[in-house]
Amino acid sequence: MTDPAIADLSKDAAARAAVALVEPGMRLGLGTGSTAAVFVRRLAQRVQEEGFDLRCAATSKATAGLAASLGLRVEELDDIGWLDLTIDGADEVDPDLNLIKGGGAAHLREKIVATASDRMVVIADQGKVVNRLGQFHLPVEVIPFGWQATRKLIQRALDRLDLTQRPILLRKRDESPLCTDEGNLVLDLALEAIPDAEALAVELSSIAGVVEHGLFLNICQLAIIGCPDGSVVEL
Ligand code: 5RP
Repeated sequence: MTDPAIADLSKDAAARAAVALVEPGMRLGLGTGSTAAVFVRRLAQRVQEEGFDLRCAATSKATAGLAASLGLRVEELDDIGWLDLTIDGADEVDPDLNLIKGGGAAHLREKIVATASDRMVVIADQGKVVNRLGQFHLPVEVIPFGWQATRKLIQRALDRLDLTQRPILLRKRDESPLCTDEGNLVLDLALEAIPDAEALAVELSSIAGVVEHGLFLNICQLAIIGCPDGSVVEL
């Protein structure tokens, strides 16, 4: 766990280092979450100071709104076509740069944007770095139709992987089921640890009602970890 005050300095350090990777004219994917928001603000500052152009695709309505309000040019991913670089946050990063994402319920669009990019770079504070994924609840976006049957199928998949008796929680906001930007639900899997992330990803992806899970395996090329003293460490 990270102290929120320290995390903010750390997030800013990571965000500033990521802004330095941006080149004029780039086609850029913008992530979602508090760290990605710091990046968007720092990026908008640089663009305003240096006056260059960028084409940005956002991973959520929230990020699209923030970026546009700061004067960044936000377009549909399909209008841009392909991206040079995506900068996003993460909920967990392991030493092989595999991630858990979706704490902000945006992992579907985040994965589409990241995999439509030549390069994905994660920015995070030190509290996100783990030896093994799974302490953070794994988000799984599911279709509302038949979601309870989908939950049963996920439970069976977990049983097959010896992840028995793990709670599967319907994510709520203000007492109501949370609805993603795509109109779906999110189930959070309280796994504690994921011994075989590849196997779990295959199992989850094979379930009809599952739209996308928050395991990002072999997608990220670099993680910039911000430290409370303003320095960064690259993984
Ligand atoms: C949203 C995400 C976020 O990138 C992740 O939750 C990290 O957010 P934060 O920077 O606020 O800790 O995956 O779906």
